[in-house]
Amino acid sequence: MRADRNAQRLPAERLHADELDALTADDRHPRPPGWRLSAQAVRRFILGGAADANGPACRQKIFGNDLAVERAIVTLAGQRGLLLVGEPGTAKSLLSELLAAAISGSSTHTVQGSAGTAEEQIRYGWNYALLLKEGPSERALVPGPLHRCMAQGQLLRFEEITRCPVEIQDSLIPVLSDRVLHVPELGDAAMLLSRPGFNIVATANLRDRGVNEMSAALKRRFNFETLLPIRDIAAEAELVGREVDRLLAEDGIEARLPPDVGLLLVQVFQELRGGEALGVRLEPLSSVLSTAEAVNVAYSAAAEAWYFEHDAVQPERLLRHMSGTVLKDDADDRKRVTDYLRLLRSKRGGEPVWRRLLEGERWL
Ligand SMILES: Nc1ncnc2c1ncn2[C@@H]1O[C@H](COP(=O)(O)OP(=O)(O)O)[C@@H](O)[C@H]1O
Ligand SMILES: [Mg+2]
Repeated sequence: MRADRNAQRLPAERLHADELDALTADDRHPRPPGWRLSAQAVRRFILGGAADANGPACRQKIFGNDLAVERAIVTLAGQRGLLLVGEPGTAKSLLSELLAAAISGSSTHTVQGSAGTAEEQIRYGWNYALLLKEGPSERALVPGPLHRCMAQGQLLRFEEITRCPVEIQDSLIPVLSDRVLHVPELGDAAMLLSRPGFNIVATANLRDRGVNEMSAALKRRFNFETLLPIRDIAAEAELVGREVDRLLAEDGIEARLPPDVGLLLVQVFQELRGGEALGVRLEPLSSVLSTAEAVNVAYSAAAEAWYFEHDAVQPERLLRHMSGTVLKDDADDRKRVTDYLRLLRSKRGGEPVWRRLLEGERWL
């Protein structure tokens, strides 16, 4: 067991070290230059598979987007960058982390995009004491994540790229097209050529600042893949159950999420997200009802049941936690949910599990 018990959250290459080791030992398929695994093994790591002639057993980690995952792998083996787009909570960050862990063995070369992201945080900066003493030199240069990934032939993760100012985004154009990073401080011709294996996997949310402000020149250097919310109720419920149980275990809570409670919550989320229930159209919510939010709601409800009642969570508690995690401060959303609950009461109120869910409405 290599897991570090004192870490709050392990990077994917540590969390799944056993699977990655088994995949490496077994891998007889062609590897793209600079990759630690073949494209097939990367696919198996992310989409899962039972042990067979093609490789060891791996758990499925990304659901409902198989085609996008396969195309993402192929893109990264080629000459263009990869941009994962989608609503918040559709596993863009998770997929980019898994790709980097499998392809480069490291998912921690990451730039977090924000309005304040500066070029030095991406490319390189300087050790100012050395810079003043000796002038610009290789020794005084402090490589940023981009410099490091290019020099080592690894994947760079660029989170929320569209939140960066456009000039900062555009500084990636020469890197993606010519695969070179100029270092003018070290001389006119000083440059870093990227090693095989280097590429960029970026993510962008459709809600915040969309991709519409990205320059056409940069867009052309990326292949876009859209991640969609999971449509299959059983698959989403399985994922929510697994994630919540993992979080509960990590926090030393002995209770687990009862599968019927998980299924109930996912059904509520899918109906609110899809804007339809029992053949009736619902007004869409402005808040994000992602799988990640479902995990948050179920986790809070389960943790509360454990801390206050020392018991597993019951359906009554679910609605109470939607108000803090999903609805937050939007009064219109609250009304939309109330309308939905009224519909449930009239159409499903006779079924015990729904009746128990509705008992929680007084807390909403
Ligand atoms: N399709 C999916 N497959 C697997 N996990 C998912 C999926 N959609 C959402 N999740 C869950 O949601 C969590 C948060 O996703 P995240 O990667 O942070 O989303 P994003 O970056 O798109 O906002 C993931 O860690 C995972 O638990
Ligand atoms: Mg993200």
